[in-house]
Amino acid sequence: MSGGRFYLTTAIDYANGDPHQGHAYEKIGADASARYQRLQGRQVRFCMGMDEHGQKVAQAAAANGIAPQEQVDRIAARFEAMWKRLHISNDRWIRTTQPHHKRGVKALIERIHQRSPDDFYEKTYEGWYCVGCELFKREGEIEDGRCVLHPTRELQWTEERNWFFRLSKYQDFLRAHFDAHPDFLRPEARRNEMLALLDSGLEDISITRARLTWAIPFPIPSSDGETQGTWVWFDALPNYLTDTGYPDEGYEEWWPADLHVVGKDIVRLHAVIWPAMLQAAGLPLPRHVWGHGFVLLGGERFSKSSGVGAGLDLNEAVDRYGPDPFRYFLLREVPWDADGNFSWERFAERYTSELANGLGNLASRTLSMVAKYRGGVTPSLSAEPDAEVEKAVGGYVAAMDANRLHEGAAAAFGLVWHANAYVAEVQPWTVARDEARGAELDAALYAMVRYVAVVAVLFFPFMPEKMGELWRRVAGDREMPGIAALPTLDVAGWTMEPGDPLFPRPA
Ligand code: MSP
Repeated sequence: MSGGRFYLTTAIDYANGDPHQGHAYEKIGADASARYQRLQGRQVRFCMGMDEHGQKVAQAAAANGIAPQEQVDRIAARFEAMWKRLHISNDRWIRTTQPHHKRGVKALIERIHQRSPDDFYEKTYEGWYCVGCELFKREGEIEDGRCVLHPTRELQWTEERNWFFRLSKYQDFLRAHFDAHPDFLRPEARRNEMLALLDSGLEDISITRARLTWAIPFPIPSSDGETQGTWVWFDALPNYLTDTGYPDEGYEEWWPADLHVVGKDIVRLHAVIWPAMLQAAGLPLPRHVWGHGFVLLGGERFSKSSGVGAGLDLNEAVDRYGPDPFRYFLLREVPWDADGNFSWERFAERYTSELANGLGNLASRTLSMVAKYRGGVTPSLSAEPDAEVEKAVGGYVAAMDANRLHEGAAAAFGLVWHANAYVAEVQPWTVARDEARGAELDAALYAMVRYVAVVAVLFFPFMPEKMGELWRRVAGDREMPGIAALPTLDVAGWTMEPGDPLFPRPA
């Protein structure tokens, strides 16, 4: 944590096709983190964007018969529209074709060259290049002559003279950094993978491509006088830095980032190559990298190139129950530190049992009982702190601080479950029949309103629109409090406003 500020980023998506469930999962998870940090009182900078250069994008444009710029403009608009639809609260949107980004990349490469002149060298290289990954592949990553991650694509045998980055030089530095900062890369499984990689030895990497025109020109001319195109990852990774304004003054206000959220397939790029680039440039490293798992369909990851999920349109999936239930489902179903399956059956089950019957029912019966028995106003009484609220908030904060979003959602849901059990046990409708038990009824209604208010805040990062609405119904125009205020939240005298079911039961 960096005091009152939090700079959070996601991977920037390739502008070669439409967003799918996998992209959405990452952005929704990062958004839940961003919203959680804001609820903890931090000033958050939340950056997302598009990765628009490279062969993969150029090939997609060619296949569509349009110029690369037109292709990336089109796709970026579609991604942006989807993120708006899903209520993603990023306040920054970077595209690698933007002039300030290109200028920043050039400045970064020049800075590395100046500080560590020996880090770039020319060499003739040959190897199998996977356009899907935009990476040269090593033996273990190739199966039946194809990249294991992109089995539908042909690998390209490439032989050319390129600029190299002396990654091997940073092996000891990286190992020491991992040792000194056990939570630099999480979850643990990702860290162990990278430690094994570091122990097996790092190879230098080719960072330019000959004849690659849809790229940022590499600012150092080759010995034959030719200018090569910067390898797309050397262009894309610095987006996190260039978004802060680098190299212009003031970028240190936000750099280094507090958290890079990326998928497990690109952890090596973020936890090894990117830190080495920064170290070479004498710039601080990001504080944390989180490598989430994959959303799977029938056991295989959603992916454009392998065609998994091709028949499952993201917009249609969001249409089914609306954006917030979609967000909730993904984050509840697919653990933030592992893989998980998308399935309509599970979606329907969770929607009905947890949202319509669990949370929705708690909200509607609380609001309608306060309306019916107390004219819509929560009884004024000086309530004791509720141990269940304290427990739920404590569990939620511990989980969210450790980036275990699924456990955060589970802790919040635990309170819903408890509140519904409490209502079933107390039976306020029975208590209401006996006028002598007025104080008991007051206490029960107060407790219920407090549960609903607390749950609305805890679930806000997961379902911002629905929980914003629930908060308004319970609290009117009071500002939503931060998490720290929840254990002592006082709801006395609040006026309720019942409305239509928040999560209508499917017809
Ligand atoms: N452009 C690079 C990232 C550059 S970051 C400097 C890239 N793009 S991508 O479009 O292929 O993937 C973007 C993000 O979506 C990655 O973090 C990737 O792991 C994630 N996902 C893509 N498919 C996914 C699933 N099926 N499930 C979860 N996330 C996955 O890589």
